[in-house]
Amino acid sequence: MLVSAKEMLNKAREGKYAVGQFNINNLEWTKAILLTVQENNSPVILGVSEGAGKYMGGYHVVVGMVNGLLKDLNITVPVALHIDHGSYEGALKVIEAGFSSVMFDGSHYSIDENIEKTKEIIRIAIEKGVSVEAEVGSIGGEEDGVIGAGEIADPNECKQITDLGVTMLAAGIGNIHGRYPANWKGLDFEALAKIKAATSDVPLVLHGGTGIPTDMIKEAISLGVAKINVNTELQLAFADATRKYIESGKDLEGKGFDPRKIIAPGFEAIKASVKEKIHLFGSVNKA
Ligand code: 13P
Repeated sequence: MLVSAKEMLNKAREGKYAVGQFNINNLEWTKAILLTVQENNSPVILGVSEGAGKYMGGYHVVVGMVNGLLKDLNITVPVALHIDHGSYEGALKVIEAGFSSVMFDGSHYSIDENIEKTKEIIRIAIEKGVSVEAEVGSIGGEEDGVIGAGEIADPNECKQITDLGVTMLAAGIGNIHGRYPANWKGLDFEALAKIKAATSDVPLVLHGGTGIPTDMIKEAISLGVAKINVNTELQLAFADATRKYIESGKDLEGKGFDPRKIIAPGFEAIKASVKEKIHLFGSVNKA
């Protein structure tokens, strides 16, 4: 059964580790992540962008697929199904469809409008037991057409938003979606410490988990980050393994053209990436 992200994140913040949010794209992606977290006894958050939800056929398809996998694969670790960078309408739609967690990304609105809309989402979500992530200060880079300028969040605005009763807060600290450029300055830990001080005990979310050096990940966790989002890294791992399969001509040998065979190396690559990340984040054996 799907659970809200609240309890797993509060436990992570207290235990000084982070829960991974891994974005899903299809059945194989989802199955690879779920099997890996079950094998490693780790909680997990499955992230679905609006674009990925549409790609999979719609939010009801996603809910049906994830619930089916939880049952048929006997997944017993805590799993939350979460919309990633949801619009106001998107967040409401996934609550209806049966998601257990939502992100409402109002970071591109004025702070007043962000507050108003976040407040409304909280009112609707919390009574259904659905956890809510809000965002202040957009995350740099581009994700499914949503482009952020990579600013650093203002601690006072973070406090205003967390005071509304959000479950978790995404606050820009120089993090970027996708690959980091060679001249990236790194995470701003001073900003993170100020945000942490202003928001007391609300678990903080680090977006753009792909390519952040391990020492920065560890420092971020020590400063209150309890959820880390990873998307691009799994896509790169999948693409790399699939390219090797095709380039080595394996699809031309025997029944190598069977889609289940073509997808298998990418599936294993996703499993390996997730395993590495949950060890780094410290969520192994915390289910
Ligand atoms: P990356 O694609 O950089 O891993 O970021 C993922 C993310 O933050 C999803 O919201």
